[in-house]
Amino acid sequence: MSLKERDVSETSEAEIAVHWGEEEYYYPSAKFIAQANMTDPKVFERFSLENFPNCFKEYADLLSWYEYWHTTLDTSDAPCWKWFVGGRINASYNCIDRHLAKNKNKTAIHFVPEPEEERTDHITYQELYVRVNEFAAILKDFCGLKAGDTVTLHMPMVAELPITMLACARLGIIHSQVFGGFSGKACSDRIVDSSSNVLITMDAYYRNGQLIDHKEKADIAVAEAAKEKHKVDKVLVWQRYPGTYSSQTPMVQGRDFFVNDLLKDYYGARVDPVEMPAEAPLFLMYTSGTTGKPKGAQHSTGGYLAYVAGTSKYIQDIHPEDVYWCMADIGWITGHSYIVYGPLSLCASSVIYEGVPTYPDAGRPWRIAQNLDVNIFHTAPTAIRALRKAGPDEPLKYNFHFKHMTTVGEPIEPEVWKWYYQSIGKGEAAIVDTWWQTENGGFLCSTIPAINPMKPGSAGPGVPGIHPIVYDDDGNVVPPGSGKAGNICIQNPWPGSFQTIWHDRDRYVSQYYETYCKDPKSKRWQDWPYKTGDAAVVAEDGYVRILGRIDDVINVSGHRLGTKEIESAALIVAEVAEAAVVPVKHEVKGKEPDLYVVLMPGHTPSDDLAKKVQDAIVTEIGAIARPRMVWIVADMPKTRSGKIMRRVLSAISNGTEVGDVMTLANPEIVSEITKMVKEKLGSAKRS
Ligand code: WT7
Repeated sequence: MSLKERDVSETSEAEIAVHWGEEEYYYPSAKFIAQANMTDPKVFERFSLENFPNCFKEYADLLSWYEYWHTTLDTSDAPCWKWFVGGRINASYNCIDRHLAKNKNKTAIHFVPEPEEERTDHITYQELYVRVNEFAAILKDFCGLKAGDTVTLHMPMVAELPITMLACARLGIIHSQVFGGFSGKACSDRIVDSSSNVLITMDAYYRNGQLIDHKEKADIAVAEAAKEKHKVDKVLVWQRYPGTYSSQTPMVQGRDFFVNDLLKDYYGARVDPVEMPAEAPLFLMYTSGTTGKPKGAQHSTGGYLAYVAGTSKYIQDIHPEDVYWCMADIGWITGHSYIVYGPLSLCASSVIYEGVPTYPDAGRPWRIAQNLDVNIFHTAPTAIRALRKAGPDEPLKYNFHFKHMTTVGEPIEPEVWKWYYQSIGKGEAAIVDTWWQTENGGFLCSTIPAINPMKPGSAGPGVPGIHPIVYDDDGNVVPPGSGKAGNICIQNPWPGSFQTIWHDRDRYVSQYYETYCKDPKSKRWQDWPYKTGDAAVVAEDGYVRILGRIDDVINVSGHRLGTKEIESAALIVAEVAEAAVVPVKHEVKGKEPDLYVVLMPGHTPSDDLAKKVQDAIVTEIGAIARPRMVWIVADMPKTRSGKIMRRVLSAISNGTEVGDVMTLANPEIVSEITKMVKEKLGSAKRS
């Protein structure tokens, strides 16, 4: 049955109802457009499917190649795509050496320590070159590492992290940076999976005013790996204060080495960049999947670097003279692509901030922006909501002006978007809402800031060369403007995409390509749409609005509701700072929504307020979405990257086991919420 023949009033399993009203467009200023890197609307023609894959030459040509490639896209091993085959390239050379002739004195990295009394370190491209070479010499001569080996990094947000990554890249060593906030056990899982025999860490770092002992996690990681019969031969320990050891743990003889001591033998060392094949892996990035074994997304050298350079230039609008600050952690893909590889390949100045944005107070980010004259700012909705909670007046107290701002990581509620635009952007900055995933290497959907107007809550169209398509569960196309949502896929491969899951091709194929594959034997890319796992709706103007993960969709009486839609409705209530909705089992309806909200400071929980939120949802979406309960909580359980753990809230709502919550940023909140929900539901039953 075709889509048209279906009775549209009856929503099938495969379709997700959408109730969102369309938001108004916002236009970038003439001033922004006048200076923008990409103002030619023909770019979309150049990157049309007809011109695929050769269009991506434009991105590859932003890089310096030792040997130019002969084949743009090799599909012979579909769906493991090979880009720019025949090309030889080095990522470290592209991010450092090639800038020296003209820009050696320019700041590559502004490192901002968390303690405000410590001075910002401005590392020039020449200094970066020296430090990367010296450390590369240690990797090569002291550790005996070579191209194709893997190394695990477990480092905090310090300049030594990109130095370590770029030293690995110089030698073709595959780095696997594990987010510093992760436990020793989590680090060990990733060491074992990637078969790394060298672990690179730091003794300590600042977080929320505390100098945290980090080396202790390395000891746990090595011990845990040993339980899995995996030996870590060497642990290299950077020191937060070179020459001083800031950890309580003993250095294990013959295993642990201070980088600062080793460096003494390598001062002035130079290591030639290794000419790597374009499709050699550059790094692994484990996705922090909420369930199951972590997956090592394997990213390539040439394709990845071309893609992050291109998108940094045209979507982030980075010019060499800009000061660019992405507040993400380098331990996530956002940091790899849009703090390190993208900006440095373009010879920009990239800011690295060690600590918590609200330390010692909510004005900290704006003092940093003011002092460094940051003009491009990049962060996530979770941080924007936290800053919004801290108060709209904070940004106004400081003299900083962003020309461009990014939001990334989850759908942004239109109310929060508007606050970002007015309060942080001061009504002057162009905003891009960039939708993508760890697996993708770089942006999938976003507006091009000087070409497409902004629309709050929508990521925008596919970026050049990315062609999204929405399928229902039966594989029918859900057309733009139909008002229906479905599974958003990408029709074509792109250079930034991961190559496979490290040593697990089957999982790569089954998770991302199997569902919508038109012919499993085919070697044509046209037969292998990439499944993102997100639910999305495409408006008539081609703008994509992400509703959340398909798995998070709540099915009420056969009516599928996207989580973000309900949460956005809750945020229309001025007192609400954050909202999260989860499904609760219901005998008749199947599922019904349960809503958790955090209030803005200065408001106390009350039944009236809960009612107000409930009413807003009924008004915005309809009675079908009326939450069973509105739980007003002090805080949401969150992952370390700031994503709300709906799985945990859902377990609480359904009275099932919450499972392991120790990896959360705030595990203590779980028992508090559980107690509240149990008490209230218990008393409801009794009465
Ligand atoms: C998932 C990927 C992108 C790097 C950081 C997160 C959600 C991401 C957006 C956005 C709506 C977004 C999606 C995606 N997501 N960006 N702008 N609007 N949703 O990477 O941890 O791999 O998470 O984050 O659901 O699938 P990740």
